Amino acid sequence: MSLTGHVVLITGAAGTLGRATAEAVRAAGGAVVATDLNPGEGVDLAHDVTAEADWARVIAEIDTSHGRLDGLVNNAGIVHLGSIEDTSLADWRRVMAVNADGVFLGCKAAWPLLQRSAAPAIVNLSSVSGLVGGANLAAYNASKGAVRLLTKSVALHGARLAPPIRCNSVHPAFVEGAMVDDLAAAARDPARAREKMAAAIPLGRLARPEEIAASVVHLLSPAASFITGSEMVIDGGLVAG
Ligand SMILES: NC(=O)c1ccc[n+]([C@@H]2O[C@H](COP(=O)([O-])OP(=O)(O)OC[C@H]3O[C@@H](n4cnc5c(N)ncnc54)[C@H](O)[C@@H]3O)[C@@H](O)[C@H]2O)c1
Repeated sequence: MSLTGHVVLITGAAGTLGRATAEAVRAAGGAVVATDLNPGEGVDLAHDVTAEADWARVIAEIDTSHGRLDGLVNNAGIVHLGSIEDTSLADWRRVMAVNADGVFLGCKAAWPLLQRSAAPAIVNLSSVSGLVGGANLAAYNASKGAVRLLTKSVALHGARLAPPIRCNSVHPAFVEGAMVDDLAAAARDPARAREKMAAAIPLGRLARPEEIAASVVHLLSPAASFITGSEMVIDGGLVAG
């Protein structure tokens, strides 16, 4: 699982999984370029993943500072609770812009620089919500389903190259952190909501961020050289039943 010598761009890196992934990439010997909406602790570059011009600037800065890019983790994402009846078109567009457009723009913008790497790999953060539906997740389900199949198209295109650009999606269930805190806070009884989330998972608990980050590092690394177009489900058994 070594990433020695690899340069990895991680979006949404101020958040729970972005931070954990940055730590895991560094622990595996890689160099991290961490981006998020606002500059701050642990964030190297300000970067709105919905803005094509931001992608062009970030990729150009990486080319100048590192001269290479070996890994891209399209991690930035937002969740919106709402059924088809109570999700507005503006809510839908906001979620699709970050979760789906952001991943599309990232794969596209990073492609030329990834093509210069000896072992390039993309990991896209989908979710169990990209595999199974939830009545109150209309926009989130659609956006994460889009990430799942975009990943396969990118993987098939990348497979034609030598060396190939590998591309895989990761599908976590609830992870301890800000996103789950927000989901629980939106419920009538936040403590009960948290208990229900854990109870829905056969392993009986939420994921720890480092458990997702470890799989992301594996998929980025040459140890996963024959894995492309796949969906790594990291859900404590949630969608197995
Ligand atoms: N936390 C979970 O339970 C969980 C489960 C399954 C999938 N995921 C997915 O994992 C990814 C990371 O989630 P997390 O738990 O770390 O969430 P988080 O809310 O802790 O972090 C998300 C980060 O994305 C950033 N972001 C939001 N909009 C952005 C934009 N337009 N441009 C750039 N950055 C932007 C935020 O500033 C934040 O730092 C997301 O794609 C999420 O959908 C999370």
